[in-house]
Amino acid sequence: MSTGTSSPTGHDTPAPGLPATPVPGPGQLPLIGNLPAFSRDPLGFFARLRGHGDVVSWRLGPQRALFLSQPEHIGELLAGVETNYRHPELGWAFKLVLGEGVVTSEGAAWRRKRALVQPVVRPRQVRAYAETMVDCASSLADTWEPGAHIDVRRDMLGLTQRIAVRTLFGTDTAGREGVIGPAMDIAQAAIGDEFRGLTLFLPPWVPTPGRRRLKKAVAVIDSEVNRVTEERHRGGADRDDLLSRLLAARDEQGDRLTDKEIRDEAVTLYIGGHETTGTTLTWAWYLLSRSPEARRRLAEELAAVLDGRTPGFDDFKELRWTEQIIRETLRLYPPVWLMTGIAKEGSTLGGRPVPEGTVLWASQWSAQRDERWFAEPDAFRPERWDEGATPVPDHAWFPFGGGARACLGARFATVEAVLVLATLAQRFRLDLDPGEIPPRTGLTLQPGRPVRATLRSA
Ligand code: HEM
Repeated sequence: MSTGTSSPTGHDTPAPGLPATPVPGPGQLPLIGNLPAFSRDPLGFFARLRGHGDVVSWRLGPQRALFLSQPEHIGELLAGVETNYRHPELGWAFKLVLGEGVVTSEGAAWRRKRALVQPVVRPRQVRAYAETMVDCASSLADTWEPGAHIDVRRDMLGLTQRIAVRTLFGTDTAGREGVIGPAMDIAQAAIGDEFRGLTLFLPPWVPTPGRRRLKKAVAVIDSEVNRVTEERHRGGADRDDLLSRLLAARDEQGDRLTDKEIRDEAVTLYIGGHETTGTTLTWAWYLLSRSPEARRRLAEELAAVLDGRTPGFDDFKELRWTEQIIRETLRLYPPVWLMTGIAKEGSTLGGRPVPEGTVLWASQWSAQRDERWFAEPDAFRPERWDEGATPVPDHAWFPFGGGARACLGARFATVEAVLVLATLAQRFRLDLDPGEIPPRTGLTLQPGRPVRATLRSA
């Protein structure tokens, strides 16, 4: 166990460890525990839990849970998924859409899939996708007119959808993007609906309009992905896209992925990457519009690094302020806002035993707004990521998770968000309509109302 951490705010915090039993926590209702408070306002509930201590006991219905706020504990949770703790079951709707892809697999199957998919999105490969990212962003900018009033979220999600389809399937889906993209979106929205309201308690065989839509969308996805894969088998073309790399991947025995496995990983990469990155960009425009100083530094950096030219992959490492804007956006509005792991027999945390079956929860939303690690935690301050600024403890910022199951697309997403922001901000300034935009929790953390802006020439 460590001896303590020095926070960027300069305070020394005590060494972490499970407090003496009983673990503190809020009062609980019989049978349902803290379910009503959690369902009503999960983000507010987490903020209140943090007030009880670094390890807080609560209950979601019959499920015994611990909420973790100490970065070292969060790191232990992330590192221990697949060994000390179990990854949570994601449910039938996820499985229907993602099949047995890397996100939905466990144990040996997950290890094999992760080893096969990792090289496909490894940082070196991301270079090949940068041109598509910038091309798609430039095409969007070509449709924008100064003075126009746009729906920022719609445009950002439309853009990341085109990037996802084109980086996955190359030009094979030309003219079909309008079929596969919307089907993926319907499937993703339907998965989200399964986690809301009464549907959560309905057995999978009960038909609802949402579930019918989901099944129809999955049929479209299957037929589109199979069509493209079969064409590749026939044509044998080796292209610079994710599908070609999945087709070329070999496991330790030298075996290739089956067509079903290729379908599952292709859909996994799409679902994992499109909405998360599009939402990050939407929040980035919102935060920038409220921070003239950050916007001024962005314009300065774009002028200095690009001097009017379209960005390319090699500019990524020079666009430091642009990347800091994305980092800070991911801190304040993490698309994945909560992570869980289930204690196995013999599990420990901070050197202390955790009863089997206890669900350990950590929330990016809550930890990344903790004033012990981030001075003025609710303020948008990309300069906190300046070189030489006070370092942030490991796992106090974890929008991409961490440990064995860390996001495979972190580099892809960061390069995409930075190059898209640079391409668009070079030509336009977005003045958002006034007013706060509250976050809404779902599968990802979304703006709680429409995000509209007036376009101005940069
Ligand atoms: C801002 C954008 C993104 C965020 C915030 C994000 C966040 C995350 C997080 C938190 C996890 C861990 C989930 C868990 O363990 O339960 C994860 C896993 C994953 N992400 Fe991302 N992601 C982003 C973009 C992407 C992109 C662009 C791709 C693909 C190109 C991608 C592919 C994956 C995959 C395949 C996994 C599963 C890894 C495993 O289970 O071993 N993500 N992501």
